[in-house]
Amino acid sequence: MTHPTTARTLLGNIEANLRGVRARVGDRLVLAAVKANAYGHGAAAVAAMIERRRVADWLGVATVDEGRQLRKAGVTLPILKFSPTRGEAEIGRALASALTLSVVDEASVRETSRVAGMVGLTGVDVHLKVDTGMRRVGVEPAQAPALAARIADEGLRLQGLFSHLPISDTPDGAAFTRAQADVFASTAAAVEAAAGPVELKHLANSGGVLGHPETWFDLVRPGIMIYGSLPDPDAERTVELRPGLELTTAVSFVKPVAAGETVGYGRTWTAPRDSWIATIPVGYGDGYSRLLSNRGRVLIGGNSYPIAGRVCMDQTMIDLGPDPVAEVGDEVVLIGRRGDAEITVAEVADLMGTIPYEVTCLITGRVTRDYA
Ligand SMILES: Cc1ncc(COP(=O)(O)O)c(C=O)c1O
Repeated sequence: MTHPTTARTLLGNIEANLRGVRARVGDRLVLAAVKANAYGHGAAAVAAMIERRRVADWLGVATVDEGRQLRKAGVTLPILKFSPTRGEAEIGRALASALTLSVVDEASVRETSRVAGMVGLTGVDVHLKVDTGMRRVGVEPAQAPALAARIADEGLRLQGLFSHLPISDTPDGAAFTRAQADVFASTAAAVEAAAGPVELKHLANSGGVLGHPETWFDLVRPGIMIYGSLPDPDAERTVELRPGLELTTAVSFVKPVAAGETVGYGRTWTAPRDSWIATIPVGYGDGYSRLLSNRGRVLIGGNSYPIAGRVCMDQTMIDLGPDPVAEVGDEVVLIGRRGDAEITVAEVADLMGTIPYEVTCLITGRVTRDYA
């Protein structure tokens, strides 16, 4: 028997979520963010599904290696690398894998042009990132037209102009997001006046897709929503989302403890009555956070049971209550749905005091992967 702790990516649900995005944004192109191993869901398998089922037109990554791995897996869709790429070697590797690079300042334009020339490429497509309020990376809006003109002078092709939204997912960010969309639109007009038409102007992340049609422009870039979570609990629920993965394991040990006995490191849980404890082979070494100690819960046979004591590196204990209702080998659901019972990524994130993005990114390489 293989190690039972398994993350099962639900490719059919991710496909359905992307179809929901397409239905919402009409004829705009869709770029699926598959950075960070597709938010922990397995980038090669997710990207291959997307290409096969034609549910997105572009993919987005954060690093050159992420893009290279997709190419090695046979992915042929265009891939945008969101963040700046610095240094001859890194730009060379990106161009060799036909990744589309973002440029953010004059130095990145010059270096991309120089490396493209060195490897004999002309008219390489780039996307110019403009900072409309995230204050992370990108050219200032007022300087974008001059930089766009420089891109053409350097023999590159300005295929895209884009920006990012820091607070598109909550109602109290609506005015800021609308103002960003206005700045982006006027910047795009000035860039096109200076450097000619730009094929792909794009701004919307999941929050933009869900709640801000004014951010859609030519292409949208959803991430978290295609994996089944809202970017924020208060985000508009305009697209029905299905969970992108489940995390399961199996009971490895069952024993009774007497009232007053303690369980686990630090003795943080004391049995309130004679109790049965199930041990499961999952812990923070698998990405199941120690922040869930004495707080998280699991499903066994469709019923909910709490974590007893601290999550260890490799094992966690579950309070079954007064009866031995589980036995070795029984399935345990850490994230997922069985019948009417469900533990969502959002619930786990809330218990940890974090966001759904982090919960699935945390799942480590030790966890068995499968795809359904
Ligand atoms: C540039 C860019 N676009 C789109 C996304 C997708 O964002 P989200 O997962 O909130 O939809 C990200 C992710 O952070 C990003 O960095």
